[in-house]
Amino acid sequence: MVTKPWFLAFLLAGGVVMLGACGSDDNEASPSTPSTGGVDPSELPGAEVYAQSCAECHGADLRGTDKGPSHLSIVYEPGHHSDDSFRNAIANGVGAHHWEFGDMDPVPGLSVGDVDAIIEYVRAVQAREGFEPYPPE
Ligand code: HEC
Repeated sequence: MVTKPWFLAFLLAGGVVMLGACGSDDNEASPSTPSTGGVDPSELPGAEVYAQSCAECHGADLRGTDKGPSHLSIVYEPGHHSDDSFRNAIANGVGAHHWEFGDMDPVPGLSVGDVDAIIEYVRAVQAREGFEPYPPE
């Protein structure tokens, strides 16, 4: 990520203006410089939900276990398995069709927000790690 100096200057100037507007003249405001991209997927809220609800079968690293497939397989690439296929698998389960691990049961107790967070997390790890071939070697 290239941070352009003019962008930083712009942010700093903005910060000064905002401080002025609040009428506060102490300079202790934490320099909350927004992170410039490069988010570590493990810091996303979905990482924890995934670890609790999905990692048992799909692996803490998403690479699968003896109970479920890797979500880094090319079959789970967004064009093959859309975000809705994740929503569907969680809500309704899914019959075995790509693998021989057996069926996936529905995963109860997750809110819509949890599910969105899981999808965001999976997509972020996929984007960072890339995909494994299918069938796996
Ligand atoms: C008890 C084991 C288990 C758990 C827990 C589990 N899964 Fe699965 N999941 C499977 C298996 C096995 C398959 C493979 C089915 C097949 O052969 O295509 C699968 C397939 C999927 C698929 C592919 C659906 C499709 O349309 O082909 C998605 C998406 C998925 N899981 C997401 C999740 C998410 C997200 C979680 C956590 C909320 C989760 N799974 C938890 C076992 C599990």
